[in-house]
Order: sequence, then structure tokens, then C-alpha cells
Amino acid sequence: MLRLAVLVSGGGTNLQALIDAIGRGTVTNAEISVVISNNKNAYALERARAHGIPALCVSPKEYESRERFNEALLTKLKACRVDLVVLAGFLVVLPEALIHRYADRIINIHPSLIPSFCGTGYYGLKVHEAALSRGVCVTGATVHFVDEGTDTGPILLQRAVPVRPDDTPETLQRRVMEEAEWVILPQAVDLIANGKVSVENGHVRIACEE
Ligand code: GAR
Repeated sequence: MLRLAVLVSGGGTNLQALIDAIGRGTVTNAEISVVISNNKNAYALERARAHGIPALCVSPKEYESRERFNEALLTKLKACRVDLVVLAGFLVVLPEALIHRYADRIINIHPSLIPSFCGTGYYGLKVHEAALSRGVCVTGATVHFVDEGTDTGPILLQRAVPVRPDDTPETLQRRVMEEAEWVILPQAVDLIANGKVSVENGHVRIACEE
């Protein structure tokens, strides 16, 4: 059973998609061992607690320095014996020590087709504002492994979503979530939990069914 830590900062709809998929059995061999937020008011924490999942806040504001916060985050993950870290709308830059300790064992969901509209400053609604102002016809979401860069790690899954002429950032965000993020994040966890994914030379390999 793959033990997951889901790191969140906000509403937690991707967390919810994961909880639901595990509940339905479309994700197998995985359990959410802990949900960690940097923001104590994140609704994602409520969602976790409502399902009996340990939920805690580890906020930089509660530590005297960034180093102490980084240590605390790593300590929590170690204590929970986590196998895979899932960044589901986590808006904090991960410490390098954590990235190295969990090399090829951290995934992130990003609301665009990487390499478009990603990197520093592209998060949440800003991604969809940028997609609309560039006038793209297609956008989508990406699940990728996390390396030291921002949204630069090996790509695991992507799913495209059409942009409509009357879209606002909010309507586009919602469609990308419904049609892409909530589909590919659980799918990615299921593939990893069932031993179908490997990373070789910075590229992902997915084992095919027999
Ligand atoms: C999601 O759209 C996720 O892709 C995005 O934040 C949102 C969190 O929503 N993440 C990023 O922009 C990371 N760069 P949620 O809390 O409802 O899952």
C-alpha cells in the first residue's frame, strides 16, 4: 500500500478527487496517510478531517526561520512514513532537502499544458488569465514529477481541454479542473501505486497493459 502525503494550500478539490477515487476503487494500492497545509484556514483540511484523514498545518509563519519550517515539514513526512508526496495546489516552494530525499517520489498537478504557462508566478487563476490573454484554443493540465526547478520535472500525464470564446479565467479554471485535473491526478497516483511508472534520464516510462 503506497502511503501518500497530500500537500495543499486552498480549497482542496484535487484532494477531494483523490479521496473519491480511492473510495470508488479507481485508485488502488494507495492510501492518504496525511494532508498537510501551509494555511490553517485551507478548506482542504476540512475535507481531509471529514474523511478521517490526519490533517495538519505546517506554516512558515509559525517558525522562526525558513530553515526551521523546512526541517519541520521534512520531519512530518518522515514521521508519517510517506512513500509519495502529492502537491495538490501547494503554493510553497519545496526545500531542496525534501526534493532530494523524495527524488522521483513527488508529483505536482499544474493547470496548463507544460511547458506553456508554467514556472515562477504561474499558479491558480493566473495560469488561466495568461492562457486567455495569449488567445490559445487549447489548454489543459499536467502531472509531473518535481525536481529543483519550478514546473520543470519529468512529465507523467497531460490532458487537453478546449478554450471557449466566452471563457473567463474562472470558467476556464473550472473546466480544466473537471475535465483534466480531477482525472489525471488520481490516474497518476494509481499508475505509481501499481508499479507502472519509472523515471529514466529525466523521462517517464509508463508500463503498458499485457
Ligand atoms: C489547482 O488548479 C492546481 O492545479 C493549482 O492550484 C489549484 C488548487 O486547487 N496548482 C497550481 O497552480 C500549481 N502551480 P484545489 O485546492 O481545489 O485542488
